[in-house]
Amino acid sequence: MGRLEGRTAVVTGGARGIGRAIAELFLAEGAQVTVWDLEPGEPRAWPGRPPALERVDVADHASVVVAAARLGERADALDVLVNNAGVNLVRSPTLRDLSAEEWRSVLDVNLTGTLQCTQALLPLLFRSAAGRIVNFSSVLALKGVRGQSAYAASKAGVLGLTRVWARELGPRGITVNCVVPGYIETHMNRAVSSVARGVLLSHTALRRAGSAEEVARACLFLASGDASFVSGAALHVDGGLSA
Ligand SMILES: NC(=O)c1ccc[n+]([C@@H]2O[C@H](COP(=O)([O-])OP(=O)(O)OC[C@H]3O[C@@H](n4cnc5c(N)ncnc54)[C@H](O)[C@@H]3O)[C@@H](O)[C@H]2O)c1
Repeated sequence: MGRLEGRTAVVTGGARGIGRAIAELFLAEGAQVTVWDLEPGEPRAWPGRPPALERVDVADHASVVVAAARLGERADALDVLVNNAGVNLVRSPTLRDLSAEEWRSVLDVNLTGTLQCTQALLPLLFRSAAGRIVNFSSVLALKGVRGQSAYAASKAGVLGLTRVWARELGPRGITVNCVVPGYIETHMNRAVSSVARGVLLSHTALRRAGSAEEVARACLFLASGDASFVSGAALHVDGGLSA
């Protein structure tokens, strides 16, 4: 019997990278998974039982509200929400040349997207016997890295939201936690130079990058009954980068 047998889950940004690994693991553990992503792709491309794939822009309030209403038509309750969708800028503008548009493009997805997905799905989460929200921060919220103003601010904001929501939703039986990944080998890091990558890995205690599957396993812990008394926590999955 899987650890998420009979549970319903929404994974934002689940079409690729860490989100995809989470969706695959949740499915393998028995959950009914809905993926919200900009380009969710074809169900055929999934090994085994596919998730429900929905085209949703988490930064667009109307898109999120419509998707939440669609989910409400086919599910009585939502047990797990994973706010994984995220972006970073390909270039790393310092404070002097960060544009307002660049700032907004990151904050809109990482911070506002997390807020509006959670708000829209709250009525369904309230109907769960044991709701779970897993947010996604980053070690870059904790360490000052040049050129990361927008990303660091958005991910530090997610840490704050996690603590506030843990307090607000705890009395309703909902836990709210945050995964804090270090350097994970995904599409998001495609523009990281080999020099910068080398520096990051030299500061990582385990001296290697993490995989999407390793992050997914931490997320499964927080989403499962194993973490029934864990709320407001930030779980670092960074090979010791922030140690
Ligand atoms: N890769 C890392 O090293 C790393 C480190 C720390 C934190 N994170 C965080 O982990 C999460 C997953 O990152 P990843 O490395 O898998 O990135 P990725 O770029 O491989 O995947 C991100 C997914 O989010 C989707 N997405 C982006 N904008 C969206 C939007 N507006 N609406 C819906 N979906 C959207 C993309 O289409 C994609 O499928 C992100 O929140 C990221 O900030 C990643």
